[in-house]
Amino acid sequence: MSKDNTSSNPAAKLWGGRFSEATDAFVERFTASVTFDQRMALEDIQGSLAHAQMLSEVGVLTEDEFRQIAGGLKGIAAEIEAGEFPWSVQLEDVHMNIEARLTDRIGATGKKLHTGRSRNDQVATDIRLWLRGRIDRIAAELTRLQSGLVELAEREADTIMPGFTHLQSAQPVTFGHHLLAWNEMLQRDFERLRDCRVRVNRSPLGAAALAGTSYPIDRARTAELLGFDAPTENSLDSVSDRDFAIEFCAFAALLLTHLSRASEELVLWASSQFDFIDLPDRFCTGSSIMPQKKNPDVPELVRGKTGRVNGHLVALLTLMKSQPLAYNKDNQEDKEPLFDAADTALDCLRAFADMVPALKAKRENMLAAAGKGFSTATDLADYLVRRGVAFRDAHEIVGQSVSFAIEQQKDLAELTLAQLRQFSDQIGEDVFEVLTLEGSVAARDHIGGTAPNQVRAACVRARELLGKR
Ligand code: ARG
Repeated sequence: MSKDNTSSNPAAKLWGGRFSEATDAFVERFTASVTFDQRMALEDIQGSLAHAQMLSEVGVLTEDEFRQIAGGLKGIAAEIEAGEFPWSVQLEDVHMNIEARLTDRIGATGKKLHTGRSRNDQVATDIRLWLRGRIDRIAAELTRLQSGLVELAEREADTIMPGFTHLQSAQPVTFGHHLLAWNEMLQRDFERLRDCRVRVNRSPLGAAALAGTSYPIDRARTAELLGFDAPTENSLDSVSDRDFAIEFCAFAALLLTHLSRASEELVLWASSQFDFIDLPDRFCTGSSIMPQKKNPDVPELVRGKTGRVNGHLVALLTLMKSQPLAYNKDNQEDKEPLFDAADTALDCLRAFADMVPALKAKRENMLAAAGKGFSTATDLADYLVRRGVAFRDAHEIVGQSVSFAIEQQKDLAELTLAQLRQFSDQIGEDVFEVLTLEGSVAARDHIGGTAPNQVRAACVRARELLGKR
């Protein structure tokens, strides 16, 4: 190691005591996390304030020492918020940057803050506080999106569109019903997020490096001061557990998967081939070469961002899979994937929550498309069953009718009664009522069905759930 490849003197490190040689300059950069973990600076200060207050309450710090530390930390928070904090890679991470700064500002008392804790329980606390804040913002944005969806679903409760399986016209559905399917996915995502928050909201503070501490700390008190539901149970697990981050990423991956599926449909519907919706210009961009183009970039990008969030989930699972207890430096790699998963989830929700209420349904086009592809064929079969024909026979009869209609280049409803009766004498004049699209959707009149009145009832239930949040 050459001289100019070494950093400043080892004593400058908060842990420099047992070292006789300065850290290699590259190793210093390689091992530092301050460039990304400074995002948790305010949570780090919040955790330190609670820790110092608890230490003063149990008599490890004097009240005056606590006052000095608290004053110093608040000053540092102001510096950070003003963008004036002198972050240093030599001080490795957010924790040591802030602690060193505290001593700069208030002198020797600053060196007492780290009594009875370790960066291991400190970082676990900071991540949980940071993630809890993000979860609450994501939950609010999810609620905004769902509220917009339910409102649009109610407006479009009577709008008929083709329903698809295998992306082939299957049976007519209402657009409101389709939108409520998206809402169900998001409702489950919300429930998963709420469930994840329960496990995030426990306090690891007091686990110290791994074995706990010999000071008379009060873990329940720091948990309470930080708004955690309770302290975590086992000190070894407390400093090594990142399940909560993995769970969050699993939530985010599923959320993005749902948004991606919806995006795919928006992209299809906005194409001139489908032409079911109009996406407002402000959510689209143009082409630099083809003047006619209006590209649905926002849903495309949401679909694309699903890949990175899925990647973050796999990264965290892989990060943890071989770690022996307790803390290992590997864990420093947890932050960037977690931060990015949370940022991406929030941004994508925001894009959707803004975009969905602005969607314009092209009702006539949807209706016309629903009329194509023999989408009421099942209704004709059900009609025959009601007249005593066995379902399998009815299926066969309708199959022959469809084949005939294809030859005639007509829809089923456009055939004459005589033409239909070639295939079954059970068919009467009233058949044309079930062959209409309106009759078909109205007939699916049960909980979870596509009938307009069921869609409206489902909107009421969805809104009730949203109101309870
Ligand atoms: N920067 C570290 C991390 O993100 C903080 C904890 C370091 N602890 C240690 N014993 N080196 O995990």
